[in-house]
Amino acid sequence: MEIKELIQKMTLHQKIGQLTQYNARVFLNDDSVITGPDKKLKLTDEDLATVGSVLNSFSADDMKKIQNQHLAGDPLKIPIIFMLDVIHGYRTIYPIPLGMACSFEAEIVEQCARMAAAEAAASGVQVTFAPMVDYVKDARWGRVMESGGEEPLLTGYMAAAQIRGFHGDDLIGDSNIATCVKHFAAYGAAEAGRDYNMAECSERELRQFYLPAFKAAIDAGAEMVMPAFEALNGVPATINPFLHNVLRREWGFDKVVISDYNAIGELLKHGVTADEKDAALQAFSSECDMEMCSASYFHCLEELVSEGAVPEEQIDRAVERVLRLKEKLGLFEDPYHGSDGKKAEALYLCEKHRELAKRAATKAAVLLKNDGVLPFDENIGSVALIGPFADEHAIKGFWSCAGRDEETVTVRQGVEALLGKNKVRFARGCGYTWNDEDRSGFEEAVRIAKSADAVILCLGEPQNYSGEGNCRTDIGLPGVQEELARLVAEANPNTAAIIFNGRPLALTGLDRHISAILDMWFPGTEGGNAAAELLFGRAVPSGKLAMSFPRSSGQCPIYYNHTGTARPHWTTEAESRGYASDYIDCGNLPLYSFGHGLSYTEFEYEEMTLSADSLAEGGELTVNIRIKNAGKFAADEVVQLYMRDPVASVVRPVQQLVAFKKTGLAPGEEKTVSFTLTPETFAFYDTAGRLTHEKGKIILMTGSPDHYYYKEEIELL
Ligand code: NOJ
Repeated sequence: MEIKELIQKMTLHQKIGQLTQYNARVFLNDDSVITGPDKKLKLTDEDLATVGSVLNSFSADDMKKIQNQHLAGDPLKIPIIFMLDVIHGYRTIYPIPLGMACSFEAEIVEQCARMAAAEAAASGVQVTFAPMVDYVKDARWGRVMESGGEEPLLTGYMAAAQIRGFHGDDLIGDSNIATCVKHFAAYGAAEAGRDYNMAECSERELRQFYLPAFKAAIDAGAEMVMPAFEALNGVPATINPFLHNVLRREWGFDKVVISDYNAIGELLKHGVTADEKDAALQAFSSECDMEMCSASYFHCLEELVSEGAVPEEQIDRAVERVLRLKEKLGLFEDPYHGSDGKKAEALYLCEKHRELAKRAATKAAVLLKNDGVLPFDENIGSVALIGPFADEHAIKGFWSCAGRDEETVTVRQGVEALLGKNKVRFARGCGYTWNDEDRSGFEEAVRIAKSADAVILCLGEPQNYSGEGNCRTDIGLPGVQEELARLVAEANPNTAAIIFNGRPLALTGLDRHISAILDMWFPGTEGGNAAAELLFGRAVPSGKLAMSFPRSSGQCPIYYNHTGTARPHWTTEAESRGYASDYIDCGNLPLYSFGHGLSYTEFEYEEMTLSADSLAEGGELTVNIRIKNAGKFAADEVVQLYMRDPVASVVRPVQQLVAFKKTGLAPGEEKTVSFTLTPETFAFYDTAGRLTHEKGKIILMTGSPDHYYYKEEIELL
């Protein structure tokens, strides 16, 4: 039946049902009595029979049970659509999105999303609440782990790769799932890095930094949009008129918008709606089509229609968007979307998926520092594995869906598999929570460090210190880990640290004591194997930071693409100059900047040439960067091109990434990497919120913000 025809056959109550989403547990209650927090929703049996969508169902069996029960009672046979946060894997978990962004590689991101889609679809999931494209610059905020970092261009690029991977060729395919880009917008601007907190952002800032990745995701075909929780410039994002206008009018997004969890219910708590009816009216009038886990639409929309406050045509339009998505996924023909428990079991953690997860973890890792310690020699006599993460399974990271800690490979398991058990000694040394000051394991740690040929020190923050609702004020290594690091490095200088983290950490103390630091992020199921391959040179680190690491928590927010000040003072050490934009007790520069990441090989940047020294309207400029692998390892390099616009009508960032390319080089190999630029490459938002490019000088730089090899000037005509 045609969708429009179907809508005509629906009662108003059935239509409203399509605009709601509730937890699977509400339907899985065997005695069909709603209990606990769900009871507060005050949903009737009639409501439940018309619900259009369900979230948080974790198996094909549960999904089928809910779907069958629903279809049996629905005369119109409109299938429920099932959604879940499939963020970095379903059962086979790959690195957290912030880590994946450090790969600067669309291919691996797309392949991982395909893997996640296949496992999720087989398990009864049809839509993922991903990609998350929030622009982030404050590492205290726990949700940075789920983001693409502090560069909108990179975030948009990664979002598009995820969408291609999740969607596959056609949503109808039974290994494919639809996407919901989130959180629209500026959720990452939460004041003080505290989750759900308000954000104040100028329109120019929003357009320049926060909105582009959403646009990129929508252009890449994202099927849904989720507004953010926070109040943006005084109005919650769910009902924010500026955001509504950008999304629906400027960008013409005509697909489904779904609220975040209970976000419509929470409009009352924000103090912008008088009661539930007002919340429903404002949210629905802002074209929030679907309500997640609050019940204002069920409770109030019928009355609002009867009073004429909400035109029924507007309800029809929202219902049509929902039904079109169901149609695209082929749910009217196959309400299970090909899901099958047996198929899912065969996919979970299969060799191919584990191999891909391992490759992804090696590509996400960033070598922050290396004074010649790494890689270790595989023929080494003995290795001491020390630290609270050395034999820790909980390294999958937050938002890991159906992933299980016990299925995750620890560093100890990975290193033992590579070297053989007899070469490996282990001591935990200390704990990793912020208030654990137990030093009783130090002695043993120092003892085994002394007796080993090399030490692998495994440190970090617990995986539940990042993710939703998990923010920190002090983003150093929690507990007494830094002390342990100092003692171990004194006992054996041939020590390399590997770090597990969901956010950039302030590692100044560690950097002082340790010669080599490899950041693994939360690497997922194959983390231990990936770490072993990287530590012993079977894989060569190629990741570059997608988010800057501060020297001290107090520097947050710190990000590479900040605007200049009239009193700049960029130092690594504390040396306040007085009346300058600096700190008395800390340098201004980050410890490790965006774009930073070392390799075991040595890349020489031989030259940067430009096809012209000016660029006119409608013209193109080619930038050629010649690099050579002058070291001994075959490796990948991310060639980065930055710009600076020294004179403009608004203060511009001191540097801004305009293009990048990742390329592999054998030892001794040389390559030229080319970028084609147009005047639009240098566009920015002016004070009137218009995208513009202005005549004048532009500086182009290659390298990374902590070291540029070449700087060239061009004139925009
Ligand atoms: C709240 C989170 O903010 C959002 O990202 C997530 O998709 C929903 N809960 C559903 O789990």
